[in-house]
Amino acid sequence: MPSEQVFRKFPDSFTWGVSTASYQIEGAVHEDGRGPSIWDVFSHTPGATARGDHGDVACDHYHRFREDVALVRDLGAGSYRFSVAWPRIQPEGHGPANQKGLDFYRRLTDELLDAGVEPWLTLYHWDLPQQLEERGGWRTRDTAERFADYAALVHDALSDRVTWWSTLNEPYCTAFLGMATGEHAPGTREGHGALAAAHHLMVGHGLAVQAMRAQRRGAEKFGITLNLTEVRPASADPADRAAAERFDLMHNRVFTDPILAGTFPSREREVWSDITDFAFRRPDDLALIRQPLDFLGMNVYCPTYAKFAPTADPDPRFRTAADIDVVSAPPADLPRTAMGWPVDATVLTQLLRGLNKDYRGLPPIYITENGAAFRDVPDATGHVPDPERIAYIDSHLGAVQDALAEGIDVRGYFCWSLLDNFEWAYGYAKRFGLIYVDYDDDLRRVPKSSYHWYRDLIRAQGES
Ligand code: FCB
Repeated sequence: MPSEQVFRKFPDSFTWGVSTASYQIEGAVHEDGRGPSIWDVFSHTPGATARGDHGDVACDHYHRFREDVALVRDLGAGSYRFSVAWPRIQPEGHGPANQKGLDFYRRLTDELLDAGVEPWLTLYHWDLPQQLEERGGWRTRDTAERFADYAALVHDALSDRVTWWSTLNEPYCTAFLGMATGEHAPGTREGHGALAAAHHLMVGHGLAVQAMRAQRRGAEKFGITLNLTEVRPASADPADRAAAERFDLMHNRVFTDPILAGTFPSREREVWSDITDFAFRRPDDLALIRQPLDFLGMNVYCPTYAKFAPTADPDPRFRTAADIDVVSAPPADLPRTAMGWPVDATVLTQLLRGLNKDYRGLPPIYITENGAAFRDVPDATGHVPDPERIAYIDSHLGAVQDALAEGIDVRGYFCWSLLDNFEWAYGYAKRFGLIYVDYDDDLRRVPKSSYHWYRDLIRAQGES
């Protein structure tokens, strides 16, 4: 059981890391020629985020990156996963690169390399240049093509120092939270548009990998990060089982089937055919989307318990979970994080097993995000004890061990997140960091107990 808390050593080659994302930490949104992104516009829309929080300053990482890199170094993490803000490189989403934008990521990657930390670069963690959104955003193939141009620019500038390249972070969230539920930027409620976006994100991924491979310098590795959830029926009732299948299709298979198998999900028409004719697909798209990958990044937080719950007020134009009569109903006895997410580490082993069963020839897998938000409060001595986070990470690493013991090729683990940051629509209220950020005291960084614990664990190669 993953809850045993004592690990065998992980393989010596196992990658230990921490993750962040540009809009969540950088701030400096008007500096050095950066253009506006959809998240700037969305977060400044009244009612869009908790308390009206936005990323204008965030953790001010843009100015404090040296201090943050030193914290990664002292943690002993061999790898640091961050994202590049597209609107720093192309303020309007097209055209030549803004030199000052590239320079920032040069300084950051140099600092990492000097500290002995391997940079893991993600090209898109949700901050689309606003001007592209105004031209149709991911609903259009044009954005996929612009994304490949942008990828080629960044790759050309940084591939002398960055080996690990991930195209997209969690296209599910971009398409379905952004354009179906509207919880994320751009914040619209669409049916067909969200599906077209999901498709064009995958096309953009394929085009970007092709463009970067064509100008490959040497050792670069290309991959993508998906957020997968193991969908469990809330009960043995056949209606709950069917609900789980529908949600699995909408959340996971819509991406894993094309990207990993080069097919569209066999049952997609049952869910989507009356809101779209799929005319946005072109005959060669599947081959384009299914690029050979050097790695697959997986972000995993919790299982989903799908329960059949007929919508009181069905609207045939849309297909969110609610529109397909699915609600999440985790067992009442499972502990929850501050996000309300149920905690059950077996989700990681189960997902890894499921992928290995369903897809042949999988690339090596890296857990590129896993972590939890809790209500962290500094104590009277200024320390921030966070035993729940330690237990969470501990149990999830145990689940990775279980997968390794079964021969599943998992090569690394990145904790989300290095430091507390702008948690999208939840703003700064949700803290995921190993490091506490004191938003009331000049953004002071205070390593939490979990930081020290994770450092010791990395040092012992996983033996806790
Ligand atoms: C993931 C996102 C990441 C962070 C965590 C909690 O979905 O990739 O930016 O918000 O959730």
